Amino acid sequence: LARGAVVPDLAGRHVVVSAGGTREPLDPVRFLGNRSSGKQGYALARTAAARGARVTLVEANTGLPDPAGVDIVRVGTAVQLREAVLKAAADADAVVMAAAVADFRPAEYAAGKIKKKDGEEPAPIVLVRNPDILAEIGAERPRPGQVIVGFAAETDDVLANGRAKLRRKGCDLLVVNEVGERKTFGADENEAVILGADGGETPVPHGPKEALADTIWDLVVPSLGSD
Ligand code: CTP
Ligand code: CA
Repeated sequence: LARGAVVPDLAGRHVVVSAGGTREPLDPVRFLGNRSSGKQGYALARTAAARGARVTLVEANTGLPDPAGVDIVRVGTAVQLREAVLKAAADADAVVMAAAVADFRPAEYAAGKIKKKDGEEPAPIVLVRNPDILAEIGAERPRPGQVIVGFAAETDDVLANGRAKLRRKGCDLLVVNEVGERKTFGADENEAVILGADGGETPVPHGPKEALADTIWDLVVPSLGSD
């Protein structure tokens, strides 16, 4: 292969990537959301397609342009993202949960816009837990040989929290980002440590999100099942 050519080591594989951040509606005009830009998930989808994979990108609220050669499923909420990811995961060789999934959603959705009333305090917003999609896939393992990758953004005790999260979620790899002011959200660059269920620890220096994406696929490829 020529220098710079991409090795098609994901040819014949189906990979599922979730990207963006879910929005949990309160009423027709308001939602609870997060700052995920979706750029890391899109970089994963682009690099997987370049390496020959069939890619299903489950996208939540990114507003990013469609990458070429990728099947896109658009969702809004965590519940919708779960449906789409589980459906696509049924025949997938790898599932990468790069999306920031809201942990909670409003317990009630107001069909009409919530209005303020003179002299009245606002009603508290009651939240309920959303399903944990990664933990569900990690526990059920619908396909033997399927590689499951999670992400974690941590502010403190990054590695210890990452290790505990990897175990809790039952995934094969966990990409741990240290977040804080100016770090990660919306940026084109990222730095991370990739933890493996086998005890592996791969530091990825600060660089383009594409480079982190390629390192993730480099670690996924040797673990893929043979059929
Ligand atoms: N995730 C998921 N479903 C959820 C929440 C998170 O699938 N309801 C996935 C994310 O896509 C990510 C991983 O789980 O790949 C870790 O997300 P994170 O928010 O770091 O983990 P949590 O278990 O929600 O822990 P925390 O309390 O630190 O938010
Ligand atoms: Ca969370």
